[in-house]
Amino acid sequence: MDYLKITGGTKLSGAIDISGAKNSALPVIAATILSDQELTLTNLPNVVDIRTLLKLLGMLGGTVEHNGTVATINNGSMNSTKAVYEIVSQMRASILVLGPLLARFGECEVSLPGGCAIGQRPIDLHLKAMEALGATIEIKGGYVRATAPNGLQGSKIVFDKITVGGTENTIMAAALAYGTTTIINAAKEPEIVQLCEMIASSGIEVKGIGSSEIIIEGTGQKPLKFQDTEIIPDRIEAGTYLCAGAITNSEITLNRVNTTHIEASINKLEGMGCSFDIQDDSITIYGNNRLNPVSLITTEYPGFPTDMQAQFMAVATMAIGESVIEERLFENRFMHVSELNRLGADIWLKGSVAAVRPVAQLYGADVMATDLRASSALVLAALVAKGDTNVRRIYHLDRGYDNLEGKLASLGAKIERLSE
Ligand code: UD1
Repeated sequence: MDYLKITGGTKLSGAIDISGAKNSALPVIAATILSDQELTLTNLPNVVDIRTLLKLLGMLGGTVEHNGTVATINNGSMNSTKAVYEIVSQMRASILVLGPLLARFGECEVSLPGGCAIGQRPIDLHLKAMEALGATIEIKGGYVRATAPNGLQGSKIVFDKITVGGTENTIMAAALAYGTTTIINAAKEPEIVQLCEMIASSGIEVKGIGSSEIIIEGTGQKPLKFQDTEIIPDRIEAGTYLCAGAITNSEITLNRVNTTHIEASINKLEGMGCSFDIQDDSITIYGNNRLNPVSLITTEYPGFPTDMQAQFMAVATMAIGESVIEERLFENRFMHVSELNRLGADIWLKGSVAAVRPVAQLYGADVMATDLRASSALVLAALVAKGDTNVRRIYHLDRGYDNLEGKLASLGAKIERLSE
């Protein structure tokens, strides 16, 4: 199995390009099911999750040509509506095929994704929304079977909790429903905006894009014809590299980034004492050798993202005072705490709140990645730890970070991928 060996203590410098957003590419790929015509997606990140979802399209009968950052997809040949356990168990986001398959074919079977390292992660809100659109849902043998033989019917859907994936599934389902769907308390993440813009590029009316109330005029089971789509920059990847600049007190530049999408991270790093030069699609961070402690609470966009919580915790270990980090979205998203403590951090947990006390130095050790973002927090900590850190189980990182070790090495980090 591969692992990363990182020798800490090197300052970083230089510039890297940010890749396309995994979390935007996934719903965009799922949305191609709504079309029976060819389209090309560009700026896809070169990560395992994208390959997994493209493989699922192939298993459903779609035609996919994929080369690095570009995929040409034609789902005109799609002839299966069953998303099997083998794929869904590898990646929870496979649940995003539920809405588009059901809307286009009037039925589908999707394996239940189950829990994951960061919590239970139920899909009840996705299923309730499909029922509100007229589907019948049955759960049997580990699969969700959804049927709507006469198509979905536009409806008013009120989410009692904000859900990114639930909103995405509902948008896609609504696009081929009969009549108007209004989604109340929709998620507002940039990834939702990209999905809405892609749907609107097919000519159907989507109102309220980027707001918490989205209104969609469905086509009544008529497949869509999309424009080719370029995936937006990955705001979590960008935030992670800003944290790399902050924790190593370095000056690094990120190109091909949308700086509006990373405002929450920029604000917190500014509060910690870093400064920035922000241009149209690039940003330079200037570190600070005396980082202030940070206080943050994870919440929905445009608030502070849960997907940046672990990385900020790594940076906070180097601050001059005690930081307080509260996780509000996922009940179990602190698996990185014990691993950071193995590197010499002093982090205390009480319920959903972590207190990060300052330490003079982190020390290299063997650590284990537990989920995608937790893994990147361990890499960040390793960049400043004295000696060597081996980060194992990096298949988590490979799911979502495009060429992490190559990008960090190009900035001067001592990092290599080894096999055991
Ligand atoms: C997406 C992101 C993930 C990010 C998360 C929150 C993708 C592929 N993944 O995940 O990286 O951390 O948004 O920003 O885009 N919930 C329910 N019932 C449901 C659905 C969700 O109770 O049916 C709960 C979840 O357990 C969680 C909260 O709602 O506590 C938010 O989850 P959600 O926004 O749905 O996250 P994902 O779409 O799974």
